[in-house]
This record gives sequence, C-alpha cells and structure tokens, in this order.
Amino acid sequence: MKQVFYLPAMLFAGILLFNSCTHEPPVAFTASPAPTPGGAAEVCFESDILPLFQSRCALSGCHDATTHQNNYMFDSYANIIRNDLTPGNATTSKIYQVLFETGKDKMPPLPNADLTIAQKALIGRWINEGAKNTNNCAQHCDSTNFKYAAQISVVMNTYCVGCHAGVLPAGGVILNTYTGVNQVAISGRLTGAVSHAPGYSPMPKNTNKLSDCQITQIRNWVNAGALNN
Ligand code: HEC
Repeated sequence: MKQVFYLPAMLFAGILLFNSCTHEPPVAFTASPAPTPGGAAEVCFESDILPLFQSRCALSGCHDATTHQNNYMFDSYANIIRNDLTPGNATTSKIYQVLFETGKDKMPPLPNADLTIAQKALIGRWINEGAKNTNNCAQHCDSTNFKYAAQISVVMNTYCVGCHAGVLPAGGVILNTYTGVNQVAISGRLTGAVSHAPGYSPMPKNTNKLSDCQITQIRNWVNAGALNN
C-alpha cells in the first residue's frame, strides 16, 4: 500500500524540482527598452553590461563557469551571447525577459539583487544595438567627477551590489546603502580592496579590476570625506 502512495508522490516532487529551474514565457511581458536617443553613445558592453552579469549572475552556485545552471554561463562576452539572446531584438531574448519575471522565475533570484529599471533598460538597449562586444569606452569615466550619487553609487550598483547586499552581504560589507559604503570608505578598506593593495581582499572578487579612472574616482571621493553628495 505504502509504495502505491510513494511513487506518485515522488514523481510529483521530481516534477516540481526540475521545473523550479526553468522559465516559462512571462505572463504579462510589456517592457520594451527605449531606442538609443539620437546621437547618444552606444551602450558600452565592457563597462556597463559585463559587470552586471559578472556580479549578479556569474556567481558560485548560479551561472559561473563551474556551476553553469541551466547551461548558462554569464562570465564573458562569448558565454553571455551564446544562447537565448537575439542581437537586435531584446523583447524576444529570454535573457532580457527573465529580468521582468516575478516569483521563482525572477532573475536574479535573490531578493536584494534586483536590477534597477535603468539597468534593465541598459541591457535592453545593448541587445537592441546588436549586442556588440564594445570595449575601451574610456569616455564613460571622468576621474575629476566623484560624487556619491552620480559616480560612486553607480559603480557600487554595477560591480558590487550582487554580492554586497541583503541579509548575508559578502564579508559583512554592505554596498547598496550610503551608510554601508561610507563605513568601508573611512576604514580604508574600500580603497584598499579596489586598488588591490596588499592586506586587502582584491575587489570586485574573481573578475577584472576596476579601471584606473574608476579607482581614482573612489580614492578622490574617500579623500574628500566620503560625503553623501
Ligand atoms: C562575486 C562576489 C563579490 C563581488 C562582485 C564583490 N565582492 Fe567584495 N567581497 C566578496 C567577499 C566574498 C568578501 C569577503 C572576503 C573574501 O572572501 O575575499 C568581500 C570583501 C570585500 C571587502 C572587505 C575587504 C577587506 O579586505 O577588508 C570590501 C571593501 C569589498 N568586498 C568591496 C567590494 C567592492 C567595492 C566591490 C565592487 C567594486 C566588490 N566588493 C565586489 C565578494 C564580492
């Protein structure tokens, strides 16, 4: 009698388990990224898009080279464009659609790792512009501009927040709030980590160093008092 009950129960549990990693087409998918405004610079893959994938998706246990959940690896240009991405058409690209999912299909799944509306739009624009491997986009950074809202928090949200937010922030370091960033700034750990100084864990972890311009912006901001400006 018992086996008769267990078998269907196990099958059912199995279906639930396997289903939990798949993404059905979104129910109410309306988002459509705005086209590039006339004359505006193209989205820069290297500085605007790659770090989002690396810090929010290519994490250990998710879509890094070792785990590659659902055969997705989001650690490099070649791997990001490998499947479910149609250059020139964000709205039919599953990689873009899942950013607007809810519940178990939401990506990234962690409660505090949601991309902002602006970041989703940027990914959409990059796909619509042909999903190109644009790099060396130095014009995107000016080291003489170093305000918290306009520059520092943008770097944190692009490169760091995937690991440094939520209930268990990596290393106990919170980087999605001014208070958190200020704390590691005045202790010297922020500059130490991003400049790969001896005695600090090099950040962002396991990926490319920030550009010299970005590191200078952070250093200038810290030296000027790490203000909430
Ligand atoms: C992939 C996850 C990940 C990303 C992305 C990441 N960090 Fe970290 N960070 C960690 C972990 C884990 C630690 C704990 C120390 C360790 O394991 O190296 C840490 C520690 C730190 C520390 C403390 C270092 C020390 O030596 O005291 C600082 C500061 C820091 N991170 C800043 C940053 C900044 C700034 C960024 C973005 C530019 C960033 N992190 C991106 C995972 C990450």
